[in-house]
Amino acid sequence: MNLQWYPGHMTKSVRAMKEQMGLIDLVIEIVDARIPYSSRNPDIEELAKGKCRMLVLNKTDLADPSVTALWKKAFESRGITVLELDARKSDAASRVRPLIREACREKTLRDKKRGIVGRPVKAMICGIPNVGKSTLINSMVGKTSAKTGNKPGVTRGNQWIQTSFGVTLLDTPGILWPKFEDQTVGRHLALIGSINDDILDEKELALELIRILSEAHPEALAGKYEISGTGDGYEALELAGTRLGMLGKGGEADLSRTAKRILDDFRSGRLGRISLETPEKEKA
Ligand code: G4P
Repeated sequence: MNLQWYPGHMTKSVRAMKEQMGLIDLVIEIVDARIPYSSRNPDIEELAKGKCRMLVLNKTDLADPSVTALWKKAFESRGITVLELDARKSDAASRVRPLIREACREKTLRDKKRGIVGRPVKAMICGIPNVGKSTLINSMVGKTSAKTGNKPGVTRGNQWIQTSFGVTLLDTPGILWPKFEDQTVGRHLALIGSINDDILDEKELALELIRILSEAHPEALAGKYEISGTGDGYEALELAGTRLGMLGKGGEADLSRTAKRILDDFRSGRLGRISLETPEKEKA
């Protein structure tokens, strides 16, 4: 899903999430491990106040493992239960399960003191578009699930689904919105492909990527496109186009096609596992 959001969408989604929160014990927040800062909306703190919380760093297969470990540590130091995940893998649900228990430990103890034992945890998965919410829901629900029907108070259309491990899951994820006012956020979301490319200048975006990679991962550019030293950026883009054989009629590099290809290589992991944000840089 590409991001094309308007204020109306946000108001509607906040209202829906507020409505749903009253029924939820556990909020499972998902972010993209390549950009945990830009794919997270701090408003969740207010929305999910008083709930059991868990944070999933998803798409770790595309992120630098050592940077993901730093993010995990940074979030854990704030008392958040964190899971590193590739939600498309078959073991995703079994990896989430023990973490849910951990995230709900205090609540379970409170319940126990009040004589409540074995009550299913009611959970909602939330995050900005494209971080992997539906993928994780599908993985947790599996084939054995059964829909338990609508419950009053929930926005019409929402269903509760019984998972096989004592968690009742809302089948509609909570949609958060990115921090559009922050320029870095927009750029990073665009780089990972979460903003519709039709409304972006792909050449500019590819140049931005080349700049970032030449600083932090020169080996990725050298290995794939034999570029070292970026010159003014355009020069590097031209060189890459020539090396890839992406030439226009006059024999010069086709910069648009080259830009698309470089972005695609990055987004699909063909340039290696690369994170765009570190906790230190983003002060997150
Ligand atoms: P959303 O509900 O939060 O909007 O996200 P969704 O699950 O639809 O996932 C968005 C895209 O990200 C999907 O790819 C999905 O397969 C992919 N994805 C989800 N989790 C992971 C992960 O851990 N690693 C990687 N590499 N990709 C992940 P798509 O191309 O849009 O759809 P599809 O072709 O896979 O169906």
